[in-house]
Amino acid sequence: MTISKKHNIIRDVPPLPPSSLFFSEESANPLDLGERGLEQGADGSFFHNPVLLKKSVENLVVNSGGIYVDCTFGGGGHSREILKNLSEKGKLFAFDQDLDALKNTIDDERFTLINQNFRFLENALLMFGISQVDGILADLGVSSHQFDEAERGFSTRSNAPLDMRMNTKQNLDAQKIINEYDEEALSDIFYHYGELKESRKLAREIVHHRKTRKIETTEDLKKLFGYIPQHRQNKFFAQLFQSVRIEVNQELEALKEMLVQAHRILKPGGRLVVISYHSLEDRLVKRFLKNGMFEGEPERDIFGNYKKTFELLQSKATVPDDREIEENPRARSAKMRVGSPLSPEGGKNGKNDV
Ligand SMILES: C[S@@+](CC[C@H](N)C(=O)[O-])C[C@H]1O[C@@H](n2cnc3c(N)ncnc32)[C@H](O)[C@@H]1O
Repeated sequence: MTISKKHNIIRDVPPLPPSSLFFSEESANPLDLGERGLEQGADGSFFHNPVLLKKSVENLVVNSGGIYVDCTFGGGGHSREILKNLSEKGKLFAFDQDLDALKNTIDDERFTLINQNFRFLENALLMFGISQVDGILADLGVSSHQFDEAERGFSTRSNAPLDMRMNTKQNLDAQKIINEYDEEALSDIFYHYGELKESRKLAREIVHHRKTRKIETTEDLKKLFGYIPQHRQNKFFAQLFQSVRIEVNQELEALKEMLVQAHRILKPGGRLVVISYHSLEDRLVKRFLKNGMFEGEPERDIFGNYKKTFELLQSKATVPDDREIEENPRARSAKMRVGSPLSPEGGKNGKNDV
């Protein structure tokens, strides 16, 4: 078992479950990103403009000497703000599955960056002997950098190979989904992840077209639906691309797995702060914080009251103010929810004693 640590980046996190496709020896030189000509400030600021920065970190850090996790490092904006709020004793572990994000690592004794999917949160932290933490932040979705790098295929605006992988070492990409998934699977993705009502028709058209010609680029995909009226196109393609991206990165599964583990490893009185960018994510976060479930009828206690897993620290989601949206339009769909774990009896203490 080897843990190689360079520039505070953990490049090999054994042993993870076999389903962990996401880290391999191929990524042995994560700092070698020269080919992409990535340029940015030392603080990651060109990479991504952090959303709800102050509010999220204020809600997260309740113990300056505690152990914190940033599940979605990106440009490191939130991580830097967390570190500002920690004392010398505090520790911060950050995750990002995208090699590009590693270039923004922070040179600080208290900080460790782990190149791993946050769905392996518990296991990865155990590698450092950590089983309990004081706070966990997740700022979900894709970074501005991922959107803006045309060749990554996330943007509806540029022509690029159909890719959309946050983790460029995984096998599943958008091209495989569009060219190999069967009609029903495609239709389900468009319907559930893109909330596109005409999902069956879209899937049928893709399957028909690919019999004669492979759909290789974002432009190939868009051309198929050139008949969508101009005034609907932006929204339509945003929904279509979002649905494929969610499937490529298994975003909802990873989120659910992380939330369940977060509840297990948060100390009593600890904080979970999640910023989401679309209703599919927010619905999962809201339901989990309220009742510890993602779907179905919530469990009731012996008195018939719904079981609670978190104390909700705000009754409604926090959203960015007009000024933030004006300065950073990508913040406009953000919703932040904050919870503190409750014991199975509903109390704040001894969550893990029972
Ligand atoms: C919205 S950005 C986070 C930006 C960051 N808060 C900042 O201040 O720069 C989301 C980042 O999380 C990463 N990410 C998304 N889902 C992930 C997952 N399941 N595991 C690990 N990293 C993930 C993406 O690669 C991306 O870099």
